[in-house]
Amino acid sequence: MRIPYIVGRWVSDRHYYGRHRLFVYLLNTEDAATWVVGARRMGKTSLLRQLEFLADGAHQELVPLFWDMQGCENSGDLSTELYMSLEDVTPRFAQLGIEVESYEGLDALVLLRRLSRELANRGKRLLLLIDEAEVLIGVAHNEPAWLARLRRTLQDPIQKTVMASTKLLAQLNDVTGSWDTSPFLFGFNMVNLWSLDVESAISLIRQSQTEPHVTVDPVVLEDVLLHTNRHPYLIQFLCQRLCIPDRAGHPMLRPPDDEDLEPDHLLAGFFLIDFQHLTKLERRLLLTIARETIMTEQELLVALADESPKRIRTFLWGMDKLGHLRQVYGQWAIGNEFLRRWLLQEWSRLQRMNEFTLEDESFEELLRVGHQRESHNFAEEVERLERDYAALKALERLCDPAASPEIKQEVARVGQLLDLARRDLSGSFLARWPE
Ligand SMILES: Nc1ncnc2c1ncn2[C@@H]1O[C@H](COP(=O)(O)OP(=O)(O)OP(=O)(O)O)[C@@H](O)[C@H]1O
Ligand SMILES: [Mg+2]
Repeated sequence: MRIPYIVGRWVSDRHYYGRHRLFVYLLNTEDAATWVVGARRMGKTSLLRQLEFLADGAHQELVPLFWDMQGCENSGDLSTELYMSLEDVTPRFAQLGIEVESYEGLDALVLLRRLSRELANRGKRLLLLIDEAEVLIGVAHNEPAWLARLRRTLQDPIQKTVMASTKLLAQLNDVTGSWDTSPFLFGFNMVNLWSLDVESAISLIRQSQTEPHVTVDPVVLEDVLLHTNRHPYLIQFLCQRLCIPDRAGHPMLRPPDDEDLEPDHLLAGFFLIDFQHLTKLERRLLLTIARETIMTEQELLVALADESPKRIRTFLWGMDKLGHLRQVYGQWAIGNEFLRRWLLQEWSRLQRMNEFTLEDESFEELLRVGHQRESHNFAEEVERLERDYAALKALERLCDPAASPEIKQEVARVGQLLDLARRDLSGSFLARWPE
């Protein structure tokens, strides 16, 4: 029996589950530049690869180009890497009459400007997908002028940029804070990458997009959802551990035992990196909640009485968004079972760690902007879906119901999306915490 779960390398196409709303948002947003921030292994590369797959297949306005910055140290490396990425997808551009070889040797800034102009002349728009953007922190130290120009290029509405990284990239704002213009990240719309929605998580557990599907008992399904908190990598990781052949040799999941919920060395390494990216207050929150298992907001405010409640709430919002924490029946708990166990095992060592890569003040500022954007985005989504829903309902009334089951299905689908978006809007922390 082949184990169908993929643990480690990026996934796309049929192996990619969920995040439908995020794709609709990223492909349709008016914003020229978006920063997708996610913890280690949350699916940043896969998200960009799936965006590339979707935009490429749709033959619409956007023409994707993937730029992996990993390993690059300076503008020269970045330019070479960008040209090589373009070369990898020569046919995509050749079919539009763009000669990829003519771009060889160009500086990335020139390349991007020329390419987006050539595409615009053809009624197209470049969709630039940047992975591992943390590399730019080093570039900011050594080539600040080049980075400032890159920022202008990335935020030029002639193209669309989606850039992914861990929150370490927030350091860029400190390094570039002295610029005459605003710091690097402020022109980017920040989007947090977190769990899959429940339906997509269930589909992933059952492997319903590929054959054979995996047989999963409802109790086991609930266990996997609960322990992983719908984190896509943790779902794949746990399901791989639980996958065994049934009598007929088809894949099924057995119930997890205690050992299955222990993080391995690799996972522990990712947790440590994420922990190092936390600010001082975030670490305090995480370690306090880990020790108590579950806490009300009030208990947290008392335990950290030397910090302002407003700041604590802003950080709780951010840590919930990135999956370090979760809310269970209105109380705060650690994001998932693997992380909880790791925190308890490492508690004393983590408590003593006192080197920080991110300062509370600068990250709080970014969270505040993200915070404000969130409810704005949800409100926009609700508005768009309400329009779609009304148009579909009007169409439904005009059509013979027997002849058009598709319209009925579409009405139900958009209705569900609308419910989800309304729920997010009304549950948004911003709504609960007026400034
Ligand atoms: N949407 C998804 N559907 C199914 N599996 C996913 C999805 N997103 C992520 N995964 C799982 O997470 C793993 C890591 O994905 P990916 O490499 O995209 O994450 P990443 O955030 O780029 O990681 P890193 O921090 O190491 O760069 C994949 O191998 C897969 O197991
Ligand atoms: Mg990655």
